Amino acid sequence: MNSISERAQKLIFDREFANSELTMHEDHPRVKWLKEFSEYAAEQKLCGEVAECGVFRGNFAYYINKYFFKHTLYLFDTFEGFNAVDIKTEKSLDDPDFESGRFGEDRSHKAFRGTNEKYVLSKMPYPQKCVIKKGYFPETAKDIKEKFCFVNLDMDLYQPMLEGLRYFYPCMKGGGGGVILMHDFFNNDLPGVKKAVVDFEQEAGFKLAKMPIGDGCSLAVINL
Ligand SMILES: C[S@@+](CC[C@H](N)C(=O)[O-])C[C@H]1O[C@@H](n2cnc3c(N)ncnc32)[C@H](O)[C@@H]1O
Repeated sequence: MNSISERAQKLIFDREFANSELTMHEDHPRVKWLKEFSEYAAEQKLCGEVAECGVFRGNFAYYINKYFFKHTLYLFDTFEGFNAVDIKTEKSLDDPDFESGRFGEDRSHKAFRGTNEKYVLSKMPYPQKCVIKKGYFPETAKDIKEKFCFVNLDMDLYQPMLEGLRYFYPCMKGGGGGVILMHDFFNNDLPGVKKAVVDFEQEAGFKLAKMPIGDGCSLAVINL
């Protein structure tokens, strides 16, 4: 590690790693929303399973597992950071907000490497209810035949977020319905998330029922 840019890069990753250790608090608006939705789902007898796509070190997955303790929690992640094909697609969208943001200028290739599935499982309150799906999403979903009542999509980039909607939206019906959270919908650094929602609506031929949840970041897509 010689050049100034390599040392700067290392500092960025050390900081990312350190930040990732900060556990979300129970009074975080997204966590409070999740708790109330889990209670509503139980009362309404929504019987599908739950999932997170984009787990990293499991900070939000911890709460999904805690509040939906009766449901199987599917955890989708490469556990090796972004996929090169997804980054290439993102760059082809040619959005200056992405390039000038947190993942622009090739920082995206090295983001989110500091994790592994063993670590994530070790921090879950009910690890026996968790199923790790390691690898590239949506390929890792091919063998799953479940219905879902809650999914957090948090993969940052256009292509996997669009694939997440394509895969999970139809899986909500049949188990009583459910909600998909589109994390980063209101994050200007990640314009691909909003585009994924717009393009999904266009290809589906209808407008999704959707609303913000009050965390300044996530959009709830409702299929109840
Ligand atoms: C912002 S992080 C997730 C943060 C996490 N939800 C939390 O609460 O801390 C994004 C994650 O998405 C994963 N990811 C992005 N694209 C993916 C894909 N196509 N398949 C699987 N995982 C992907 C990355 O590996 C990274 O860990």
